[in-house]
Amino acid sequence: MNSNEIVLITGGTGMIAQRVSRLLENSGYEVRFLSRNKKSEKHFLWDINTGFIDTNVFNHLDHIVHLAGADISEKRWSKQRKKEILDSRIKSTQLLFNAIKKHTNQLKTFVATSAVGYYGTSTKDVLFTEESPNGHDFLAHVCKLWEDEADLFSTFNNTRVVKLRFGVVLDSNGGAFAKMKKPITMGFGAVLGNGQQYIPWIHIEDLCNLLLFTIENDELSGVFNAVAPQQITNEQLTYLIAEKLHKTIWLPKAPSFVLKFIFGELSSIILKGNRVSCQKLILSKFAFKYPAIDQALDHLLEK
Ligand SMILES: NC(=O)c1ccc[n+]([C@@H]2O[C@H](COP(=O)([O-])OP(=O)(O)OC[C@H]3O[C@@H](n4cnc5c(N)ncnc54)[C@H](OP(=O)(O)O)[C@@H]3O)[C@@H](O)[C@H]2O)c1
Repeated sequence: MNSNEIVLITGGTGMIAQRVSRLLENSGYEVRFLSRNKKSEKHFLWDINTGFIDTNVFNHLDHIVHLAGADISEKRWSKQRKKEILDSRIKSTQLLFNAIKKHTNQLKTFVATSAVGYYGTSTKDVLFTEESPNGHDFLAHVCKLWEDEADLFSTFNNTRVVKLRFGVVLDSNGGAFAKMKKPITMGFGAVLGNGQQYIPWIHIEDLCNLLLFTIENDELSGVFNAVAPQQITNEQLTYLIAEKLHKTIWLPKAPSFVLKFIFGELSSIILKGNRVSCQKLILSKFAFKYPAIDQALDHLLEK
């Protein structure tokens, strides 16, 4: 435990930011947030559109976990929304980097939080590892540019850069899991598309433990897939959640063309998927608390 070290988390109101900040504080760290709204004395303001940043946030800073980014599933991907998704990640990283260079002498760790969307989607039985090339769809493009910007930090006074490619983060309080659970609970759950698309996933507790592990483990650097070992398809997950909730899936599969019509290009995040390996993380001695979906769901649904 490194008490007294200071961690800056960007996107302070976010689902992961809230959860990981509690873990870090309980582990002895001081946590600060960069946020668009000042909610408490721990929150420092920034505005990526005007380039404003409250530089007091950098005093004696040790680590940054960069979580800020416009929600990819909130709205249809209009040209404007795509720009917002991209800018909130790329411009924010540039803003942070320029401010760090100007206002600090040292930063121990920069943790970039990318996504397995980096690889694009695949309907084939390909298993993506950290060595796999980036894909060519919109999200793959966003992740690639985001990670390239994060690399800037490795040019700054030996800052250690770790780039985590998150799978879908399962949390009982929000995010994708709440969206999957709701229709099933109401008796209107359905498999999406042909249901064969893989959903790389990770339990929120494992993700937060991984962020702490990343900060504390000086030997860790480079890219890591942040996904659980067990791979599962949309169909398997839908039926498993229904079984745990004692519900029946009686509706037919939701046809892809209908979802495409309703959600446009955004539908790709539910209709397409990929299989992703966490072998590198396991070799780095990270221990999952919830390696299997069965235990993860039991825990998420018990609350
Ligand atoms: N959750 C997942 O399943 C998942 C999977 C893969 C990758 N990720 C990545 O992990 C990061 C955190 O995920 P999360 O689920 O915690 O996301 P979240 O709940 O949507 O939080 C992201 C935070 O980013 C800030 N933000 C939103 N729009 C912004 C904008 N236009 N400009 C600047 N800041 C903005 C907000 O914080 P303030 O209001 O405090 O400014 C927001 O609360 C995201 O970048 C996401 O892409 C998440």
